[in-house]
Amino acid sequence: MKLDVREQMSDVKKNVPLTSDIRQLTSTIDMNEKIEIDLLLAGIQKRYGYDFTHYSHASLMRRLEKAREQAKAMHFTELLDKLLHDEKGDALFEKILELCQLIAVTVVIEKIVPVLKTFPFVKIWHAGCATGEEVYSMALLLHEEGFLDRARIYATDFNKHSLDTASNGVYPAKHIETYAANYRESGGTRDFSDYYSDGYELAKFKNFLKERITFSYHNLVTDGVFGEMNLVCCRNVLIYFDKTLQDHVLAKFTDSLRHGGFLCMGNKESLNFTAVKKQFETVDTKQKIYKKCGSAHAV
Ligand SMILES: C[S@@+](CC[C@H](N)C(=O)[O-])C[C@H]1O[C@@H](n2cnc3c(N)ncnc32)[C@H](O)[C@@H]1O
Repeated sequence: MKLDVREQMSDVKKNVPLTSDIRQLTSTIDMNEKIEIDLLLAGIQKRYGYDFTHYSHASLMRRLEKAREQAKAMHFTELLDKLLHDEKGDALFEKILELCQLIAVTVVIEKIVPVLKTFPFVKIWHAGCATGEEVYSMALLLHEEGFLDRARIYATDFNKHSLDTASNGVYPAKHIETYAANYRESGGTRDFSDYYSDGYELAKFKNFLKERITFSYHNLVTDGVFGEMNLVCCRNVLIYFDKTLQDHVLAKFTDSLRHGGFLCMGNKESLNFTAVKKQFETVDTKQKIYKKCGSAHAV
């Protein structure tokens, strides 16, 4: 029996999923996953007060996927369910948080270090240092550049639990692999294992890195300023604040900095539209590095 071509085409359409159907199916899955991620992030924000929505999407996704695998959850809604109802939910959240804290040393190597090196003594404030990875990477960088012994690093946060972790300098050994990879990515050439001692499932940054760091409790909203800083690093903290609070805290950083001192902010933060903008010049737009106007030698 000879079929009309149009009939044949209609049969094909009925039985074979066409590209457009596949595309629609894929986009439904994408949309479902997006809904689940939105729910997960909203749940985390409500339950733990952390807003990850401003983190780089690709990097956040890699970390959420890793957390989902570790939690043996099929979907992101199942991960949220575990965060809210599992007795290990808090520990799971700590893991997500740790996974989100990247060592960020590249930001300072090219544009800040050459200036800092010229000073007889260097003062640095890491505000909102969380569990301290960023602070240790700064100490490590100053050590490699040969002026850690001429520096004092103040590392502050208002989360006492995080500060304890930071001042102990002890991290899960498996995270050290990530730190070592970050170190190499940011141009580090030495053997990263020289910087920590290994224990069972834990690794501790060596004491020489800690000697120049002072860890202390400090609430950016209610506590005072630190004086005469050459560099203030405050990354991924102001994203949690509204404009009024941002201006309030940025005024503290401005007062804390010497003329010519540097301010380092997170990738998603900037001085644009803030009350202090005119008091700074931009050193690096992408890396959010600013310099307080005035001569570096003026007090
Ligand atoms: C997302 S973490 C950023 C940590 C690190 N700077 C980084 O970029 O990986 C935000 C940190 O800001 C701290 N923080 C939030 N509000 C604060 C406040 N009012 N005073 C001091 N620290 C604060 C939190 O405790 C948390 O450790």
